[in-house]
Order: sequence, then structure tokens, then C-alpha cells
Amino acid sequence: MDHMYRELVHKYPKEKRYTLAMLQDIQRQNGFIPKEAMEYISEYLNLPMSHIYHLATFYKALSLKPKGKYVIKVCNGTACHIRGADSIKEELYNILGIKPGETTEDGLFSLEIVNCLGACALAPVIVIDNKYYGNLTKEELKSVIDQYKGAEIYG
Ligand code: FES
Repeated sequence: MDHMYRELVHKYPKEKRYTLAMLQDIQRQNGFIPKEAMEYISEYLNLPMSHIYHLATFYKALSLKPKGKYVIKVCNGTACHIRGADSIKEELYNILGIKPGETTEDGLFSLEIVNCLGACALAPVIVIDNKYYGNLTKEELKSVIDQYKGAEIYG
């Protein structure tokens, strides 16, 4: 059977202990683990889907859902926490309608909560696609998100 995961999976011997390595490779290449990839591994290794699924959900670095085009990281380190990270988080939940680990329906934004982003002097801080936004207020947040939405609409 020819398949887009063939090359990746067949690099490894048909042994159960390579399951995680295969999943990691697929995550790296694809950004997430599609169901078909798990099915392919399950067939190749002759292991039940439940085993593959369990591994894929157990490890935090693996994701079963595609990430949004823009990944928003909200810092919840000590400095940011003291300077209002909670209200930033709440406001983002309102604006985007998603919780951490989720992606908006239009596929534009994913949300992650992280520890110190190394820019405590700018607390509270968020990062969108490696761009830092510091000393953020709730009001600014809305316009920052709108910029990204606007970039989509107007190119
Ligand atoms: S605690 Fe947020 S950047 Fe350090």
C-alpha cells in the first residue's frame, strides 16, 4: 500500500518500541498526527489503534489536531502573572472563543499557555509567531488580534 506516511514509518523496524519515534516524526513533518497516520502505524506494527491513540494523547509534544496558522503563546510566568496575565488570558478566551490547546474554527489561531518567555521586563507578554507583544493591555489585545485577521482578509 502506497501512502504518504510510508517512508517515515518504514524507516523503523516493525517493533512496538518504535511507535513513539514514528509519532514524533509525523508530528515534526506534519505539525500534528492525523488519524490516518495512526491507522497506518497500527497496521504496520499490527498493534491496536487504542495503543497508538493512547501514546499520541499521553505525550504533550504530540497533537491530534492541526495547529492554527498563528500560534499565540500567553506567558503565565511569575512576572506576567503578577502583572495581569489572567485578564489577558480571559480576554483572549473571549475574543477567540477557544481555550488553551484549542484552535479557532477558521484555522487561524491556536492558543497555548507557557511559562516565562524570557521578557519579564515587558510583562505581561504574549508571543504570536515569534513576535513579542509586551506591556499588553486588554484593549491593545483586541487590535493585535485584529491585525492578524486583517492581514488574512487584505493580504
Ligand atoms: S514571566 Fe512572562 S516573560 Fe517572564
